[in-house]
Amino acid sequence: MSTNIVWHQATVNKEERRKKNHHSSAVLWFTGLSGSGKSTLANAVDRALLDRDVRSYVLDGDNIRHGLNKGLGFSAADRTENIRRIGEVAKLFVDSGQFALTAFISPFREDRDNVRALLTEEEFIEIHVRCSLEECERRDPKGLYEKARQGVIPEFTGISSPYEEPLTPELVIDTDRETIEESVMKVINFLEERGLL
Ligand code: PPS
Repeated sequence: MSTNIVWHQATVNKEERRKKNHHSSAVLWFTGLSGSGKSTLANAVDRALLDRDVRSYVLDGDNIRHGLNKGLGFSAADRTENIRRIGEVAKLFVDSGQFALTAFISPFREDRDNVRALLTEEEFIEIHVRCSLEECERRDPKGLYEKARQGVIPEFTGISSPYEEPLTPELVIDTDRETIEESVMKVINFLEERGLL
């Protein structure tokens, strides 16, 4: 635990930034199984927001694990730390007046709820990117399910490590039934209905 550290109040505050941007800021927390389409959807929403001159940025599991969270593995404790750090980073994005789009499996309900607790009710939007395990396994875009079934990858989500579905997410996207365009519109409409855009 750090000592002798005093919080420094920023000169420019979140509300001023939001006003300048002509939109609010929040975290869009995409959660779901590997291969469910989290990254694809987050990136498509990011593009749709850019097209509307909205400031947003995607934080993606695979990418963040190459840098900031290099060194963290897939044990329950490491996944919790992974999500804790991303939660803190996402909060900084919200403070900076932008939308953070996070695409992490984030399999544990408690970890996601801890991130929710860092933010206000309007600022945390949990989006369950829902897709059956069978379909994710059929897609297997990186060949990871096959390796997990062979026992080459231990603690693989859905196979040998649990995924706890959100109980009351703000949005559910069924990627095995909806087109990507429909899913993107669902997210954008939600943001508009909430008065965030
Ligand atoms: S977590 O659970 O939120 O900490 O995981 P995350 O940071 O999103 O990383 C998931 C990506 O890592 C790859 N991968 C694994 N996933 C699940 N379980 C195990 N054991 C594992 N090992 C590697 C995989 O490519 C995940 O990417 P996505 O995009 O979800 O398919």
